Amino acid sequence: MASITIRQLDESLKQQLRLRAASHGRSMEDEVRTILRAAAVGPAEAPPARAATRRNERVAESPVLVSKPIVPAGHKRVLLIIGGGIAAYKSLDLIRRLRERHMAVRCILTAAAQEFITPLAAGALAGERAFTDLFDAASELDVGHIRLARDTDAIVVAPATADLMAKMAGGHANDLASAVLLATNRPILIAPAMNPAMWANGATQRNLAQLMQDGVVTVGPNAGEMAEAGEAGLGRMAEPLEIASATEALFGDEGGRPLAGKRIIVTSGPTHEPIDPVRYIANRSSGRQGHAIAAAAAAAGAKVVLVSGPVSIPDPPGVRIVKVESARAMFEAVETALPADCAVFAAAVADWRVATPGSEKIKKQKGKAPLPLALVENPDILATISHRKVKRPPLVVGFAAETENVIENAKAKLVRKGCDWIVANDVSPETGIMGGETNSVHLVTAAGVETWPPQSKDGVARALVARIANALTGEQA
Ligand code: CTP
Repeated sequence: MASITIRQLDESLKQQLRLRAASHGRSMEDEVRTILRAAAVGPAEAPPARAATRRNERVAESPVLVSKPIVPAGHKRVLLIIGGGIAAYKSLDLIRRLRERHMAVRCILTAAAQEFITPLAAGALAGERAFTDLFDAASELDVGHIRLARDTDAIVVAPATADLMAKMAGGHANDLASAVLLATNRPILIAPAMNPAMWANGATQRNLAQLMQDGVVTVGPNAGEMAEAGEAGLGRMAEPLEIASATEALFGDEGGRPLAGKRIIVTSGPTHEPIDPVRYIANRSSGRQGHAIAAAAAAAGAKVVLVSGPVSIPDPPGVRIVKVESARAMFEAVETALPADCAVFAAAVADWRVATPGSEKIKKQKGKAPLPLALVENPDILATISHRKVKRPPLVVGFAAETENVIENAKAKLVRKGCDWIVANDVSPETGIMGGETNSVHLVTAAGVETWPPQSKDGVARALVARIANALTGEQA
């Protein structure tokens, strides 16, 4: 009788077998025995690897069991992992949004997700059966979790619960979703959704930092009301349209993703410097230019960390956003986001802060002159990062907001701040640039000054990202 030695299998097969065995908690030999036994019995008679759950029975009865849909040419394939949270109902809409954008969607529902929505609903909307169980003999014979992990162009996890994020960060593989996430080599986008306290918890933030370091892209969470009465804050899952755009941004333009694999930090918006708990010093920056640069860099394939001051515009898709208030918080967030291949400092950082902000609201003193506000200088984020000896991004880009002698001042700023490029613009009130939709800039580098035609802030962003891609990789964006 013929015998098979695992050692004689080719390396990639061995690797797949190893992962599969590890995720099932079996030895490689036992895994081979299980596969052979299941193959000999045949899918129709194969006993389930563990007692069928109520949910599996529902899947088996599903009339939408189309195991291998034909993906039209040019369509991207997305594996949508739906975690267990109230936001799971929004993932049903997300399936439609992705399909509207010509993406073929295949779904995995975690056990917890099935408490909120059914595999039948997800499967019906996706046009393919939804997968649920790592130990489901039928799916293992049909596609198998390694194939699920590989037969896709990207994986989207929505909602990404605190538990799923922890499993991903820790490399767990004890259910279908986590095993697939561990086995994949495709880009991963997560849309976190959880209670604000869970999001703010140090454990979740550590897991998030780890996932970012591993190259996972995030969209949201957004601020707002929670499902629980009276709970509000940061933790709502991004809206399906935002997640769909972020998924598109993962793929970038068909023309190419010249910044793929590059890490870019962008600062944006104003900073608010507290005077007391209710008052602050601010400026008119809307954040439009910085946010547009972050979005353009993400669309070009970069992993983007956007450190944003308080703005009222939407978060750009496909970027990791860190929201801050003050210049000092912005500085800390930038330091934390290092290392990076490029940093673009588009924020209008307040130069000064109040030396000792009041801990209580400062009251008027009848008949007395108002108290003078003593100011101290804020850290200069651009200059400090540019002059760093370690972890200085190879390309540092600053902005110069000037109201007179734009080019001369920008040239002086380039030298003083120690950055590589300055994007200079005239922010005199009559230009309408500060807070407006368009921009008219000069790119100042050691090689000289280029004056770009007036254009939308998106246009400036795309042109700047093209230049950054060129500088970092030698390719055109
Ligand atoms: N910048 C910074 N940190 C600061 C101040 C400015 O990172 N504390 C950055 C801005 O994001 C911008 C650049 O420095 O990229 C220039 O900002 P700008 O306000 O034009 O220059 P200032 O340094 O404030 O100089 P001045 O106000 O004297 O023109």
